[in-house]
Amino acid sequence: MDAKIEVLIPEQDVRDRIQEMADALSEKYAGENLHLIGILNGSVFFLTALAQKMSIPVEIDFMAASSYGSGTESSGRVLVTKDLDRSIEGDHILLVEDIVDTGQTLHLITEMLEERNPASMELAVLLDKPSRRKVCMDADYIGFEIPDVFVVGWGLDYDQKYRELPFVGIVTE
Ligand code: IMP
Ligand code: MG
Repeated sequence: MDAKIEVLIPEQDVRDRIQEMADALSEKYAGENLHLIGILNGSVFFLTALAQKMSIPVEIDFMAASSYGSGTESSGRVLVTKDLDRSIEGDHILLVEDIVDTGQTLHLITEMLEERNPASMELAVLLDKPSRRKVCMDADYIGFEIPDVFVVGWGLDYDQKYRELPFVGIVTE
């Protein structure tokens, strides 16, 4: 059965916000070599949209980690299933993720990447659910703060589906 999905953030609002974030990043990293690191699979739509709106050249790499099973509750554990292809030592890194929820996934990933000695590391997320935080995790660039609702679209899935939706929607049943 298909889920019922209500629009929370319309497509154009998401696109306008990504343009603003891209402008801020292009200004900050002008003249630098910036590596965007996306966490698969959720970051893909946000990362590509962001990269296309930036006015500086960027490099792209991905890693995969999962903390969720097939439902809507977090297991509270993170498993790295695909690592980066290249070293990040001495590089300016922008970690890109769809959402920061409890913060556990990004906490573990940022700790691991810090050990590889990048020149700098910042975090950009499309969505932030601050009310759900279990560990301290502040993103440097946040698209939208949202309440404690389960959302899909822009890379976010419900049982691996609905990542492709161009708006952010709430699963209501
Ligand atoms: P955290 O470790 O609890 O911050 O969880 C991060 C991951 O949980 C995200 O990368 C998403 O894959 C998933 N997640 C958290 N909230 C939602 C949601 O509302 N919809 C879909 N996936 C979510
Ligand atoms: Mg994810």
